[in-house]
Amino acid sequence: MLTWSFTLKTACAVEKMSLLALLLVSALAAASGQHIRDVCSSSPLRQLECRRPGLDAWDSLAQTPLGASHSAPPPWTFQGSCVTPENVTESYCVYSSRGFADGRGISILTTPERAEIIRRLPAFVEAGALSRVNTDASPPYEERELPGRGRGLIANKTLHRGDQIFAHTPILIVDEEAWQDAETKQWIEMQKAAVNGLPPASKEQFWELFGQPGEDPVSSRVDTNAFSIDINETTHSAVLPEIARLNHDCRPNAGYFFDPQTLTHYVHAVTDISPGTEITITYIDPHMPRRHRLARLSQTWGFNCSCSLCSMHPSLTQASDARLHQMHALEERLQDWETASPEIALAFVSLYEQERLYASISDAYRFAALTFCAEGQRWSAIKYARLAIEIGMLNDGFLDEDVKQMMKLAKEPEKESCWLKRVM
Ligand SMILES: *[C@@H]1O[C@H](CO)[C@@H](O)[C@H](O)[C@H]1NC(C)=O
Ligand SMILES: *[C@@H]1O[C@H](CO)[C@@H](O)[C@H](O)[C@H]1NC(C)=O
Ligand SMILES: *[C@@H]1O[C@H](CO)[C@@H](O)[C@H](O)[C@H]1NC(C)=O
Ligand SMILES: *[C@@H]1O[C@H](CO)[C@@H](O)[C@H](O)[C@H]1NC(C)=O
Repeated sequence: MLTWSFTLKTACAVEKMSLLALLLVSALAAASGQHIRDVCSSSPLRQLECRRPGLDAWDSLAQTPLGASHSAPPPWTFQGSCVTPENVTESYCVYSSRGFADGRGISILTTPERAEIIRRLPAFVEAGALSRVNTDASPPYEERELPGRGRGLIANKTLHRGDQIFAHTPILIVDEEAWQDAETKQWIEMQKAAVNGLPPASKEQFWELFGQPGEDPVSSRVDTNAFSIDINETTHSAVLPEIARLNHDCRPNAGYFFDPQTLTHYVHAVTDISPGTEITITYIDPHMPRRHRLARLSQTWGFNCSCSLCSMHPSLTQASDARLHQMHALEERLQDWETASPEIALAFVSLYEQERLYASISDAYRFAALTFCAEGQRWSAIKYARLAIEIGMLNDGFLDEDVKQMMKLAKEPEKESCWLKRVM
């Protein structure tokens, strides 16, 4: 089950800041109210201030130039060298596959072991696994300049809840542990090699990304645009140029998840979206009270949140914060759903709706389904299980464990362990 802070993924950005914010999602889960230092130690954020002071370890690394003697197994072509930092048993190499995803290509900076796991994923070995992804012909949005907000994506047709907006494979994946072990100079070289291993069209997309002026052009593009993803229980940063164009909102109308089997990052509408409306996702935990959201955004990205939620009248802000506070309390109570009444869960659902937290509302639906199941109320359990499945699939993944649990419950609640738990 997701922890509280994990369920909440938002910030109030305005300018085209960067998806770095997304990386915070996992970091925030660990530590609301912590400082950037802590964020740095627990996330692949690679802002300058996050960088470890250059260890000299990499100056004396055992560099293994990869020539003909190191043949990579298909589909890889090695780029550059492998490096083994001092006192670290792992080496890191750059693996590129130009043919991946019908010629979109991919470069991965990781250990030989993890590269081996990755090349056996359905994304690489299953015919048709990527047949529905990376298709951008006639998208449901236009990119436009937005006054005071930089560029953004505006829906140009009606999108319904559940409509797919993006499904893309990363062009670059970087192992977080490599970053933690690496010295800056070496790190930059390896990332450069990774970009150079891409086919021309993807390389061009990479260079079109926004990077901080005055910093290393490759690193700053990765830093500014990477999403945090998990592959085989290891955190990686993934560069997805198309999705990097989405702006942030504290109350977004789209949700996203990464499917590690197909290496595909999906973005779907979680509410109906009218033509002319900007499509947004959340960069940070949206369940934080306003003060914390503002602090987080300004500390981490140096900008002032000005989305509608951040800029409303102080009285209304207080009401919103009071709701968020109560949601925390109810969520805690509902962890013990076997003894909690469905009324508590329904109040929780209602608070989610009032707060317009539509991307993560599946957590509230799930608790409602479980409490009704525990009371033996078949049809209410089924109703909320179905609602949880619908949104959970869009924001947590088609094969998410909670989604799977709700699928069973929606079919035959009497057969689930929650059935009549409260009564007994
Ligand atoms: C590697 O380990 C040795 C022995 O423990 C130590 O002296 C050296 O400083 C370490 N090097 C780095 C870069 O940590
Ligand atoms: C929306 O804009 C895209 C360009 O981003 C275009 O390809 C598509 O045809 C447009 N759709 C509609 C319905 O106008
Ligand atoms: C991770 O990789 C190992 C080694 O290949 C494999 O046994 C394991 O099932 C993988 N775990 C996941 C969650 O994919
Ligand atoms: C944010 O707001 C504060 C206080 O109003 C101001 O001092 C600061 O310059 C603003 N920062 C930006 C990036 O606009």
